[in-house]
Amino acid sequence: MISTQLDPQTIEAAHTSGAYSKRPLTIVRGEGCYVYDEHDNAYLDLTSGMGVALLGHAHPTVTGAIAQQASRLITCAEIFYNDQRAQLYEALDTLLGAEFGRYFLCNSGAEAIEGALKIARLLTNRTQVVACKRAFHGRTLGALGTTWNSAYREPFTGWTLPTVTHIAYNDIAALYSAITDQTAAVLLEPVQGEGGVYPIDPEFLRQARRLCTERGALLIVDEIQTGLGRTGRWFGYQHADITPDVVVLAKGLAGGVPMGAVVWRTALGLIEGSTHGTTFGGNPLACASAIATLQTLHDIEAPARANNLGIWFMNELRERDLTGVREIRGLGLMIGLELRGRVSPVVQALQARGILALVAGKTVLRFLPPLIITRADLEYVLSALVDALNEVSA
Ligand SMILES: Cc1ncc(COP(=O)(O)O)c(C=O)c1O
Repeated sequence: MISTQLDPQTIEAAHTSGAYSKRPLTIVRGEGCYVYDEHDNAYLDLTSGMGVALLGHAHPTVTGAIAQQASRLITCAEIFYNDQRAQLYEALDTLLGAEFGRYFLCNSGAEAIEGALKIARLLTNRTQVVACKRAFHGRTLGALGTTWNSAYREPFTGWTLPTVTHIAYNDIAALYSAITDQTAAVLLEPVQGEGGVYPIDPEFLRQARRLCTERGALLIVDEIQTGLGRTGRWFGYQHADITPDVVVLAKGLAGGVPMGAVVWRTALGLIEGSTHGTTFGGNPLACASAIATLQTLHDIEAPARANNLGIWFMNELRERDLTGVREIRGLGLMIGLELRGRVSPVVQALQARGILALVAGKTVLRFLPPLIITRADLEYVLSALVDALNEVSA
């Protein structure tokens, strides 16, 4: 029985795990770059549901594909073949290029990172992992070992992977000393998102590629937040003109339907049966949604859009006299503003002006708009941001 007596916020507050600090807003529907509350108030969604809604909300091509597939076949475990899964592999092959061709499909970013770590262990028979300070790769126990933030890790001391070395991001000398003949994988984000929106130095990524090849380690690039056009290229690593060994995808891959993927170079070979698996991985519903999403991202030239709008927006931000802003960082439509003070009052002031934004830590305001956002929408963001920052500093 579903009760409609109490409002959703009261019910959720009574049942929440406590894991999330919630904002007092009930979102009931979305359309394009906007989401709506129960009174039909519109909010420009610069969170994209945590970077998921690359095509905005309720994109008709994606919802059409989901509806059609839902009435055809929702579930089909990977012990059987499936037409949608096969089509998705072909679509991803086209995007990633000829060297890639092996996939493990799963259901979230953290699960994909778990998969990538296990695959690196299996393919190299080595145990050590190099990750970066400020990195975020998820919160399941394996992924958590590679995530940096001590607030996430410390409650689980002793339970996370003991074989991870964290080096300073963009520190090439540290790479040289950290990668050894025992390193199974080097795990890097092309732009650190949760860590504060820090783009990678392309030379750091190129050196990581070179050293991994030289020393027999796998280079895993976490494209969960940066992938599929967000940074102005299909994949963030393309800014450095390198090819990783393993690419990890999730978030927007299936247009909002949960899906993660580990992709690796065909030449690396297969993992052995029974070493990994998951019930929902590669289910036809998520695959159909992913195919429609990738096709539409291709049709709208999403990477070029993100690149052009991102350059324009960052220039506009830099030209304005933004009160209390220490630094503006980003790549494509992944943008962070380092503030002099706390970010949460600015997020609230923006919400009062009909704009939803993310944070990255205590002082960084983060924008991850849908890649279909228009210049007119971003112009509104600019003027609302100036007002919001002035209000907060007053
Ligand atoms: C770069 C990166 N890796 C991994 C994850 C974990 O993904 P999920 O929240 O789907 O487990 C995230 C989530 O924000 C992320 O941004």
